[in-house]
Amino acid sequence: MSNVFPSPHPLVAHKLTRLRDKNTEPKKFRELVREIAALLAYEATADLLTVPKQVETPLAVTGGVELKEKIGLVPILRAGLGMVEGVWELMPQAEVWHIGLYRDERTLKPVEYYNKLPIEPRVSVCLILDPMLATGGSAVATADILKRWGVKKIKFVGLIGAPEGIAAMQKAHPDIPIHLAAIDQTLNEHGYILPGLGDAGDRQFGTG
Ligand code: PRP
Ligand code: URA
Repeated sequence: MSNVFPSPHPLVAHKLTRLRDKNTEPKKFRELVREIAALLAYEATADLLTVPKQVETPLAVTGGVELKEKIGLVPILRAGLGMVEGVWELMPQAEVWHIGLYRDERTLKPVEYYNKLPIEPRVSVCLILDPMLATGGSAVATADILKRWGVKKIKFVGLIGAPEGIAAMQKAHPDIPIHLAAIDQTLNEHGYILPGLGDAGDRQFGTG
């Protein structure tokens, strides 16, 4: 699992435990999703390229850097939406491109319903944002879309991954690093992650 990075950070583990709690109400749940997403994005972007840039302080001119790469945040609708704000706060220059996919309840295969990407890619590195990597179908399909769009550097940032979903991503897209708050045990017969946190979309939007 060399390209899988479960966060070692105690803050992430603490917040994830509250997120899993079935008694955590949607307002707190959204806050935790936002905060964990930001912490994971911080870890996931540690290798972003920079270029030198001079800066003038009130006292002297000194050397600094600025980000070289144009970043795209790609939330998978709808549960990925809750991850955008926390990450965007860290990198306000990023562009946000939405991909709409839902899982067919019977087949568990992703169905695409929204994609407004322009013909030419306008970003050089994309962070796919989705809380749950279950069978992996949604993440694999989104990475397929982004690669067809022409993006070469892609990272997946999620909250919880199942071994099944991680394996599917590694098989289809071995070049894409996977950043997670935790790796769980397995999927149940309905394709939900165990122990997981339930339905990430329903818990954020109060629709369960
Ligand atoms: C959830 C989740 C992922 C997908 C993961 O979305 O947010 O997108 O399931 O499952 P997979 O790895 O098996 O594809 P869902 O389809 O429930 O849609 P929603 O976000 O609109 O609720
Ligand atoms: N989607 C969710 O929201 N939760 C799961 O456990 C699996 C897919």
